[in-house]
Amino acid sequence: MKPRKLHIKSYGCQMNVYDAQRMVDTLAGEGFVESANAADADLVILNTCHIREKASEKVYSELGRLRVMKEEAARQGRRMNIAVAGCVAQAEGGEIINRAPAVDVVVGPQSYHHLPELLARAEKEGRALETEFPAKDKFSFLPPPQPDVIRARGVSSFVTIQEGCDKFCTFCVVPYTRGAEVSRPVAKIVDDVKRLAEHGVREITLIGQNVNAYHGEGPDGRTWSLGTLLRQLAEIPGILRLRYSTSHPRDIDEALIEVHRDIPAVMPFVHLPVQSGSDRILMAMNRKHTAQDYRRVVDRFRAACQGIAFSSDFIVGFPGESEEDFRATLALVTQIGYAGAYSFKYSPRPGTPAAEMQETVSAEVMDERLARLQELIDSQQSAFNKASIGTTVDVLFERAARNPGQIVGRTAYLQPAHVMAPQSIIGQVLPVKIESLERYSLLGELAENAPPLSASPDTRLVTTSHETPMGA
Ligand code: 5AD
Ligand code: SF4
Repeated sequence: MKPRKLHIKSYGCQMNVYDAQRMVDTLAGEGFVESANAADADLVILNTCHIREKASEKVYSELGRLRVMKEEAARQGRRMNIAVAGCVAQAEGGEIINRAPAVDVVVGPQSYHHLPELLARAEKEGRALETEFPAKDKFSFLPPPQPDVIRARGVSSFVTIQEGCDKFCTFCVVPYTRGAEVSRPVAKIVDDVKRLAEHGVREITLIGQNVNAYHGEGPDGRTWSLGTLLRQLAEIPGILRLRYSTSHPRDIDEALIEVHRDIPAVMPFVHLPVQSGSDRILMAMNRKHTAQDYRRVVDRFRAACQGIAFSSDFIVGFPGESEEDFRATLALVTQIGYAGAYSFKYSPRPGTPAAEMQETVSAEVMDERLARLQELIDSQQSAFNKASIGTTVDVLFERAARNPGQIVGRTAYLQPAHVMAPQSIIGQVLPVKIESLERYSLLGELAENAPPLSASPDTRLVTTSHETPMGA
């Protein structure tokens, strides 16, 4: 049978990137092969994001474009199925069905394993929608990726260990779109990581909307924390680096801090969103921590692990945010000293408590605050970056760069680093002497015989993360 073409477009966070891969793996069993081109695809999936209004709006404009492609396909005598997945599907499934007649399937994030039968149903009945939150781990139903697929995806891989959130920050849709917190059992995660390592993966990023709230069933029958899980995964042959994202400051426990002290494979770089530096606003956000609680957590990490660096998420213009509140955010950023951070203008999300709050901040004030915050974060990033010039840092090499002969990898702080070297270094962690900086990329040469210098707190590198953050 001729393979059918699947085009999948993902918006938003790392979890969506990972979910998209798992959908591809599921549909591979149905004879679908991934295609970079939407126009000649038999199935197009939009894997959507609902976190801010801008992200959600993109879905409907993209669906407009796809409808034209679908009509053209029909003129050529082909059927193009269109599926909407992800968090907009979960939150607005019924509305999508009403507003976008070209959509054949709507599938929420907990139902991807039903995609083959939903497609069959759509072909028979016209359309299909599923946005339930089944109690069981959806990943138990998804086929694992094939060895050649794992290899093609490269040396660094995401693995979901936890989904959903019970925190209910007043601005956030995640508890509604991804549901209650669910942790996958340890044995399943270990199996996934072993399989990835056997086929060339060297770095694992454990992901979850509230990843450090992880409380999975351990093989000993007890509940394991993220710290215990990381210790176990570090033992798996082939795994050189471990990361986790996204953490909530309230759920940082001693076991997690200790793995940063004890396990070199756990990278000294933590994404730890604070959202605001004002206690008044943190309270209104229902964050369940103060600015001082956050500073203490950072201090504990720093005491345990020299060279650890942090990134964060910030929201400016939350309802009721005064100039004084905003200055408290700037003060916190100055005190912490970030390697990088994401900052967003507050966007009211339907159904969340903050969307009902009356004291809104004007668009002009939000723009002005965002610019001031970003300027401060950028200056911290640049300083962090520049401090690496002349030092030797470990780099995990990932792939050939665009420039012929160059190989690109990432430092402990996710900073891209380029060297001239043979392809055989891909998959290895090697020390690199950093010579210069080109925008966000480090340029250097292999320091084969030089022992890697671990970066001190004042020689931290900047991050330019490739996905937007999620959760926590
Ligand atoms: N408006 C603006 N930013 C938001 N985030 C979450 N919800 C909103 C919202 N309603 C941001 C937070 C979170 C990141 C994933 O997105 O900073 O940490
Ligand atoms: Fe949960 Fe994070 Fe959203 Fe708060 S911001 S509700 S912790 S996902």
